[in-house]
Amino acid sequence: MTEPLTPKTAVTYVRSLPLARDFFGDAPLAAEPITEGNVNLIFRVYDQTQPTRSLLLKQALPYAWRYPDFKMPVDRARIEVGILRIEGRYCPDQVPQVYHYDETNHIMVIEDLNRHLVMREALMRQRRYPHVAQHMGIFMARTLFYTSDLYLSSGEKKALVPQFINPVLCKVQEDLVFTQPYIPHPNNRVTPPLKPLVEELVYADDDLRADIFHYKERYMTHAQALIHNDLHTGSIMLNQEETKVIDPEFGFFGPMAHDIGTYFANLALSYASQEAHAAEESARASYRAWLLDQIQETWHVFEREFLALWEREGNEDWPSDRFKQRYLAQLLQDVAGFGAAEMMRRLIGMAHVHDFWTIEDETLRARAESLGLDIALRWIKHRQGVHRIEDLTQLAADARPLL
Ligand SMILES: Nc1ncnc2c1ncn2[C@@H]1O[C@H](COP(=O)(O)OP(=O)(O)O)[C@@H](O)[C@H]1O
Ligand SMILES: [Mg+2]
Repeated sequence: MTEPLTPKTAVTYVRSLPLARDFFGDAPLAAEPITEGNVNLIFRVYDQTQPTRSLLLKQALPYAWRYPDFKMPVDRARIEVGILRIEGRYCPDQVPQVYHYDETNHIMVIEDLNRHLVMREALMRQRRYPHVAQHMGIFMARTLFYTSDLYLSSGEKKALVPQFINPVLCKVQEDLVFTQPYIPHPNNRVTPPLKPLVEELVYADDDLRADIFHYKERYMTHAQALIHNDLHTGSIMLNQEETKVIDPEFGFFGPMAHDIGTYFANLALSYASQEAHAAEESARASYRAWLLDQIQETWHVFEREFLALWEREGNEDWPSDRFKQRYLAQLLQDVAGFGAAEMMRRLIGMAHVHDFWTIEDETLRARAESLGLDIALRWIKHRQGVHRIEDLTQLAADARPLL
């Protein structure tokens, strides 16, 4: 088995690469571990005389480094690099550069985003970013369009799909997003005051399960485009000028609406969690309005760019304007459905998010979570009435804390 990197071997490793001379010259190097993630070993290697001159090593081990009992195939590193390169071809400004990939040791050497914050943490502090809607709309439109059957020839697409078969990581999402949160499963973590509501509104509702399983089946069978498959606000790093999407190790050919819905769901989770984070009522209302604007603006950018690309660069296989309209209309309704599943799994499943975890007062946390739950239930139950993005944000605005 490959040896896990340490700060010491990370430096020796970088020194041994041809790119080290160009990047660092003879400067003295040091390495520090980055421990925010759960899955991979990550080190920042930097010039000690100029610490912002740096790069990142990310190594996949056959298990999640924080939870060694959780086995994960090292092939995820090949998938992550393959997707970063494809995304980089169509959207170079929105992903970290890949400098090197070592397929024997499953180590990628990538651009260090040392002037960027993780978007989830920034939203918890009510930060606003003037370009993120534009950047994320373009990112999703391009990465999804250029890997779909609307652009690729039928043969090219079929040759690409098997390169991104990702069974173990997909099963994690099938279980954690689309199965466990809707049954009283031992992995679920529910804030105690929220429990009676979850029993009543989720576990006892077989119609809800039927709706969710509709999306689970789409997730498992609809190889529509090469999706990121974990496009939450923890997979986005940004500042006032730039937005970068990181960590596509879960990627595979799946439904476009899962990526778009996951992103919108995490904006809606931030909206709900502001119940506890925003200092006072007017600041909260104003920040919430900004978050809902983000959903609207991102969709508008996405739709405009996607249709323009289809018009300009689409293949000849779909000669129907009506079909294009239907495609986008269906996508928007599916965004509501997939978005609801992502919200529920973060609120009542196994993998929770910082937005709520950090609320220490259990009563307040449950209240904020109940607002998130109400948004999710409205999105999935009323998705067939979503004809414009404003219908989706209105459903969020109408939601109320249920506790
Ligand atoms: N290119 C990067 N530049 C700077 N920091 C990064 C970069 N990629 C990841 N990070 C930091 O490492 C953390 C974990 O990264 P992530 O790619 O999500 O790893 P994992 O898949 O192991 O969870 C991120 O939350 C961020 O703080
Ligand atoms: Mg990851």
